[in-house]
Amino acid sequence: MGSIFSPLTSILLLLILLWGGEARDPFACDPKNTATKNLPFCKAWLATGARVKDLIGRLTLQEKVNLLVNNAAAVPRLGIKGYEWWSEALHGVSNVGPGTKFGGQFPAATSFPQVITTAASFNASLWEAIGRVASDEARAMYNGGTAGLTYWSPNVNIFRDPRWGRGQETPGEDPILAGKYAASYVRGLQETDGNRLKVAASCKHFTAYDLDNWNGVDRFHFNAQVSKQDIEDTFNVPFRMCVKEGKVASVMCSYNQVNGVPTCADPILLKRTVRGQWGLNGYIVSDCDSVGVFYNSQHYTSTPEEAAADAIKAGLDLDCGPFLGQHTQNAVKKGLISETDVNGALLNTLTVQMRLGMYDGEPSSHPYGKLGPRDVCTPSHQELALEAARQGIVLLKNKGPSLPLSTRRHPTVAVIGPNSNVTVTMIGNYAGIACGYTSPLEGIGRYTKTIHELGCANVACTNDKQFGRAINVAQQADATVLVMGLDQSIEAETVDRAGLLLPGRQQDLVSKVAAASKGPTILVIMSGGPVDITFAKNNPRIQAILWAGYPGQAGGAAIADILFGTSNPGLSSFGLKLAALPKIVYGTPLHSTKPNLKCNGFRKQFLEV
Ligand SMILES: *[C@@H]1O[C@H](CO)[C@@H](O)[C@H](O)[C@H]1NC(C)=O
Ligand SMILES: *[C@@H]1O[C@H](CO)[C@@H](O)[C@H](O)[C@H]1NC(C)=O
Repeated sequence: MGSIFSPLTSILLLLILLWGGEARDPFACDPKNTATKNLPFCKAWLATGARVKDLIGRLTLQEKVNLLVNNAAAVPRLGIKGYEWWSEALHGVSNVGPGTKFGGQFPAATSFPQVITTAASFNASLWEAIGRVASDEARAMYNGGTAGLTYWSPNVNIFRDPRWGRGQETPGEDPILAGKYAASYVRGLQETDGNRLKVAASCKHFTAYDLDNWNGVDRFHFNAQVSKQDIEDTFNVPFRMCVKEGKVASVMCSYNQVNGVPTCADPILLKRTVRGQWGLNGYIVSDCDSVGVFYNSQHYTSTPEEAAADAIKAGLDLDCGPFLGQHTQNAVKKGLISETDVNGALLNTLTVQMRLGMYDGEPSSHPYGKLGPRDVCTPSHQELALEAARQGIVLLKNKGPSLPLSTRRHPTVAVIGPNSNVTVTMIGNYAGIACGYTSPLEGIGRYTKTIHELGCANVACTNDKQFGRAINVAQQADATVLVMGLDQSIEAETVDRAGLLLPGRQQDLVSKVAAASKGPTILVIMSGGPVDITFAKNNPRIQAILWAGYPGQAGGAAIADILFGTSNPGLSSFGLKLAALPKIVYGTPLHSTKPNLKCNGFRKQFLEV
């Protein structure tokens, strides 16, 4: 660069690059495109309904069908680009969906605690604030051409089965808390005035989904058996509050069946309940390939055209997956549905795109059009991630009391355990690339001198080879902090647990270290799902217990702030917090969704607890 441009020009170029970023080209209605800019659907001052009607009227059936899928095709003759509907922002902008990519000017985004942790704060204004930050960063990345505007978050399924690998993504088992969470987070994300949307959120996965892969049954073959009362009183509550109070712009139906009907083919759930009773102003999308799944795996219809027709007639507007793109045209030809049914689906998706400003010309002229790279990973955003972890971490036991630790009485702390120096473990699943991390070891190291041992090579903890070294440092230090628990190798999407105890020999490590340690022993559990730690509750050598969930990018700093008393944890002893906190000791669920599974092992295990 220096050899071609003068130093001054180079600095100017660099400044322009840093300042403006690469602006995204208009998605549609480019003011430079004289063929389209005067069409009614491009006129921002016209009523949204009239614009959408005009646009639908210009599309051929083939073009319409190409818009029924997540990677919606371009319509070049009308100046409309292709659009990827699938982005995710469960607890910060994520790159799980193909619509969002990190790199270039957007190497990372603020990574908040996993939802189960944030929910345990019981603080609705915190949830809304996190949503606003996530959508600031999402809009900034959209403006820079690296993200979409439609986010398939939050996950507000009721966490009824404690073994579910995706329970970590949810606000827990309590319907009202989950509903408040849904409404607050969505309000923050969307910042809607009723019409305009900052980004469009989606409450998923409707409904009664709490199994991924357990005992030979996977989510593609799961038929949740739920009474009408349980649907009303429990499973649907967060979705209803998301739609009615949160004014969400989308609901996603799930893979599973409910009482023998795939949710994405059920007009009672979609058309009658979500759109009719609750008044969804937005679109209904399938989970990724739900329609293909109920045809291919559940054999719910005998032809693919019937599956496509059933989904659209039930009220599905968009398919995450190729199925509707492949089979809807023939379904119309066979007379299973009409083009008017297809128009109904497009009315819902295109209206959301209009409300997002996608047909308003230059993205930079949008109210959020000036957000850019400097609005991502800002100090205040990262401070909120730290604050959220502090508010979400729960104190379960404090005998003595032994917490807080003090730098005077505890000048050296032994930090032990497979999760003691983790980074990505702290952000759980459906995360992105974090701005940076503070591990527990690093956080505690900011207060006092540390000696570190893993104790187990990883959370599976299959042997005791490193126990001796861990016991040794506990004998030397003035206090011992054990950071144990789970990670995505134990609980994840497609990975349910078979039991609730700590994996492998973790319990053994904790007990042996506690027996040997010179000072107080503090147990910190990182997990999304509940862990039965009755042994630690009953062990007088373990003076304090913290549940940290998956505490996000700054989790280690928050854990240290709580250990040393510069910040207060949530208190489980007030009872109120227990609904969001995954139960540490669990009872048999009253109404399991899986009577078709052999539950004997499950119940027996609870009886043994
Ligand atoms: C809720 O969170 C917000 C944002 O961090 C904070 O200002 C407020 O004090 C919290 N409320 C309570 C009751 O802790
Ligand atoms: C802790 O993890 C970081 C990287 O995440 C690494 O650089 C550091 O060496 C680790 N510390 C110890 C004591 O293992």
